[in-house]
Amino acid sequence: MMQTLASLLRMREEGIPIAALTCYDASFAALLEGAGVDLLLVGDSLGMVIQGKETTLSVSMEDMAYHTKCVAQSSKSAFVMADMPFGSYQENAQKAFSHAAMLLSAGAHMVKIEGGLAMSDTVRFLSERGIPVCAHIGLMPQSVHRLGGYRVQGKTEEEAKRLLGEAAALEQAGAAMLLLEAIPGELAEEITESISIPTIGIGAGSACSGQVLVLYDMLGIYPGKQAKFVKNFMAGASDIGDAVRRYVDEVKSGVFPGPEHTF
Ligand code: KIV
Repeated sequence: MMQTLASLLRMREEGIPIAALTCYDASFAALLEGAGVDLLLVGDSLGMVIQGKETTLSVSMEDMAYHTKCVAQSSKSAFVMADMPFGSYQENAQKAFSHAAMLLSAGAHMVKIEGGLAMSDTVRFLSERGIPVCAHIGLMPQSVHRLGGYRVQGKTEEEAKRLLGEAAALEQAGAAMLLLEAIPGELAEEITESISIPTIGIGAGSACSGQVLVLYDMLGIYPGKQAKFVKNFMAGASDIGDAVRRYVDEVKSGVFPGPEHTF
């Protein structure tokens, strides 16, 4: 089945979890959607897992457009979301539009930008001009230096209140999806219940409308330190396709993420 924004929204409404994974090339795009992945995220995590950098900050528009093209080339049924890299959307909404248009031309169906309230005018500008936007809140890897590291967000009452307000404001501005990273499961549940667009969680518990992991983390091939929310699906799997099918089955049945993967 061909996934669209409408079909993903229907999945949220029908309580069918959305299975998403990051993807950076054509071969994996075919394998992942063949194994039942609904949404492929061309993540700027490629700066770390493909380019070997410590952060995502040096990923360029050219990198993102290239990998989006590779994924879109062989993807036939999955919904393709592409990250706007650091520096490509923060300055003003007009520049954000030109860069988002490059990613849509490369084959993305939606772009993802990191940021809460400060990004709501940009979200509005893009979505009013026909570009579907996913807003990424909670732990925002492009803000790693401001956040002082890759830390869980939303742990205090004040932070939780701020994130709930940002989710509402971003939906109001036209965001068609929210990505929630590294926040307590209870807060992710509260956010998901307070809005009507799908939420995709990574380290945000099982109550989100869907789940995403970085492909190289769930295949156990990223040499860096693993976060609590990562599960290696290659353990016990016969091959990569089997590992991805196990991930999809566990997301769909609510087995993953378990309490051990949740803050
Ligand atoms: O770039 C990426 O892989 C992401 C994940 C953290 C979801 O945005």
